[in-house]
Amino acid sequence: MAKIQFVVTYWICLTICLVGCTPPEDHIKCSSGNTNCTITNTYATFPDRSICRAAEAMYPKSEQELISIVANATSLQRKMKVATTTSHSIPKLMCPGGENGIIISTKYLNRTVNVDKSAMTITVEPGVTLRQLINASAAAGLALPYAPYWWGLTVGGMLGTGAHGSTLWGLGSAVHDYVIQLRIVTPAGPDEGYAKVRTLRNGDPELNAARVSLGVLGVISQVTLQLQPLFKRSITYVQKNDSDFGDQASTFGRQHEFADFTWYPSQHKVVYRIDDRVPSNTTGNGLYDFMGFRSTPSLFLALIRTAEETQESIRDAVGKCINGGITTSILTNAAYGLTNDGSMFKGYPVVGYNNRLQSSGSCLDSPQDGLITACPWDPRVKGLYYFQNGFSIGLSKVKDFIQDVQKLVTLQPRALCGADLYDGFLIRYVTASSAYLGKQEDALDFDITYYRSKDPMAPRLYEDILEEIEQMAVIKYGGLPHWGKNRNLAFVGAINKYQNATEFLKVKQLYDPLGLFSNEWTDQILGIKDGITIMKDGCALEGLCICSQDSHCAPQKGYFCRPGKVYTNARVCTRLSS
Ligand SMILES: *[C@@H]1O[C@H](CO)[C@@H](O)[C@H](O)[C@H]1NC(C)=O
Ligand SMILES: *[C@@H]1O[C@H](CO)[C@@H](O)[C@H](O)[C@H]1NC(C)=O
Ligand SMILES: *[C@@H]1O[C@H](CO)[C@@H](O)[C@H](O)[C@H]1NC(C)=O
Ligand SMILES: *[C@@H]1O[C@H](CO)[C@@H](O)[C@H](O)[C@H]1NC(C)=O
Ligand SMILES: *[C@@H]1O[C@H](CO)[C@@H](O)[C@H](O)[C@H]1NC(C)=O
Ligand SMILES: *[C@@H]1O[C@H](CO)[C@@H](O)[C@H](O)[C@H]1NC(C)=O
Ligand SMILES: *[C@@H]1O[C@H](CO)[C@@H](O)[C@H](O)[C@H]1NC(C)=O
Repeated sequence: MAKIQFVVTYWICLTICLVGCTPPEDHIKCSSGNTNCTITNTYATFPDRSICRAAEAMYPKSEQELISIVANATSLQRKMKVATTTSHSIPKLMCPGGENGIIISTKYLNRTVNVDKSAMTITVEPGVTLRQLINASAAAGLALPYAPYWWGLTVGGMLGTGAHGSTLWGLGSAVHDYVIQLRIVTPAGPDEGYAKVRTLRNGDPELNAARVSLGVLGVISQVTLQLQPLFKRSITYVQKNDSDFGDQASTFGRQHEFADFTWYPSQHKVVYRIDDRVPSNTTGNGLYDFMGFRSTPSLFLALIRTAEETQESIRDAVGKCINGGITTSILTNAAYGLTNDGSMFKGYPVVGYNNRLQSSGSCLDSPQDGLITACPWDPRVKGLYYFQNGFSIGLSKVKDFIQDVQKLVTLQPRALCGADLYDGFLIRYVTASSAYLGKQEDALDFDITYYRSKDPMAPRLYEDILEEIEQMAVIKYGGLPHWGKNRNLAFVGAINKYQNATEFLKVKQLYDPLGLFSNEWTDQILGIKDGITIMKDGCALEGLCICSQDSHCAPQKGYFCRPGKVYTNARVCTRLSS
């Protein structure tokens, strides 16, 4: 999820935000009843800016209804895709293929089925949000130890894309590695009534396909997760220069259970999150309400977007660095939204229960106020509009990657200030998984968020540097792209980085031989079809391709396809000043 931009006035606005906020809109829109629909993601733009259509949207309320929907569609050989209410995946995972496709929404599959205190498990339907999951677990004195930081994701969505928190400890940082049982509705032959429920348990190899499934195996109807007793943790953010960051990166996560980093490369700063479990009698009732996930006044959002657009259009790199520095100091002074007691930040460490510190997203569930306030990326207001890269690089290679980025900063000191407006590079530990499409080794996941123009043909300030980092990550260092983030080029050849990809495809063939739950995009990223990259004028600006000729950049605006500066095999859109 996004990490968000701030300016000084944020504090003035904060008081207004408390009045109320408009929750995000429904991303499935149908023109008549539940037919003739479009679906989009939370940003209302896919990487290729296309629109995604479906003939019908279905809203099952039970597994029984789900079965009859899948059976009916299978008997008619209609394409299906599952969509979540919050729709946070950036690529087109949720688009049903074909002309006659069906969207199956998990909106009403949002119940907690069972919490077993003695076995320390929770069973939920797929539309349950991370927030609900954390809340229901905590109510029983239990905790999912590691989870994403944005709580507006659903359980089905997290499994579909391999969402994670940050740790190298225990069973690792990915939510899907805590699944001990899962029920999934898949197509079936006529003799079985065209649909069937499969129950997969820990140890069953097919579960390793279903843990991270991209939604192509069927519809998950129930998930059981292994929890732990609820615990307290103690968080301290420490800011250091980044001189030895390359050395620290691979070892810090062994020292602290919930370690992560926020890196501001152009400022040569890195914030270390020193975060560990503490005995539950440790004093403290801390709360995390990340500033970038709060309701924000639309007027303020328009102001910062306008400032950013202006700085981009006049190529004001100095201005971006100043605003980046201000943003960072506001965030660090405000402890990113941590408080010691739910209202005030008085100092580190912040100690509290895991359910109050792991995740946040208060802009999600506020009352209607006619868009006076909104989530900062809400497409209905003029607000933040960005690209988001997310890739993980094996721990053994991460030092070299970090040092390559540092070399780029030495060559172009202001090039990465733009990312500071979105709170720098968020870097989290991820762990090798038995999931066929899960992480192959322990790694560091880099989330980089940065300006996207509303005009697909408009190059960005220092276009070339972020393109080089992106190509370096996925090509030179063999990084794995997050399935729910990224631009098209990051997925080229990605499937070949998974040792057990063929095992995954076997299960897909078994569960859904007709590919009813697949679409063009999933076929492409699974290596079944060509066409991940789209070659056309300006394609590299949007990450739809790696440039191979000048027209893929913006030659009329002075941007030409050239080799990278540090990774010379990269091909990036470089501004040549005459
Ligand atoms: C379907 O919806 C589109 C707008 O999204 C509209 O232009 C079109 O007329 C509708 N078609 C039918 C058959 O209702
Ligand atoms: C199957 O779907 C079609 C088209 O949506 C619908 O008219 C029909 O009633 C459905 N049949 C069943 C048994 O649900
Ligand atoms: C499930 O979702 C529906 C529709 O959004 C909502 O009205 C209901 O309160 C939700 N149930 C729970 C348990 O959150
Ligand atoms: C769960 O959510 C409800 C409603 O937001 C809240 O009142 C309650 O304190 C939460 N429980 C826990 C254990 O977080
Ligand atoms: C970075 O910090 C270390 C101590 O933590 C110090 O030795 C070093 O000189 C600093 N480097 C720069 C460039 O400030
Ligand atoms: C917490 O509990 C442990 C034993 O359970 C005890 O030794 C320790 O003194 C307690 N700490 C506080 C701050 O109460
Ligand atoms: C691939 O799958 C096999 C069989 O399930 C398993 O033994 C092996 O560890 C898996 N390898 C990876 C890298 O996940």
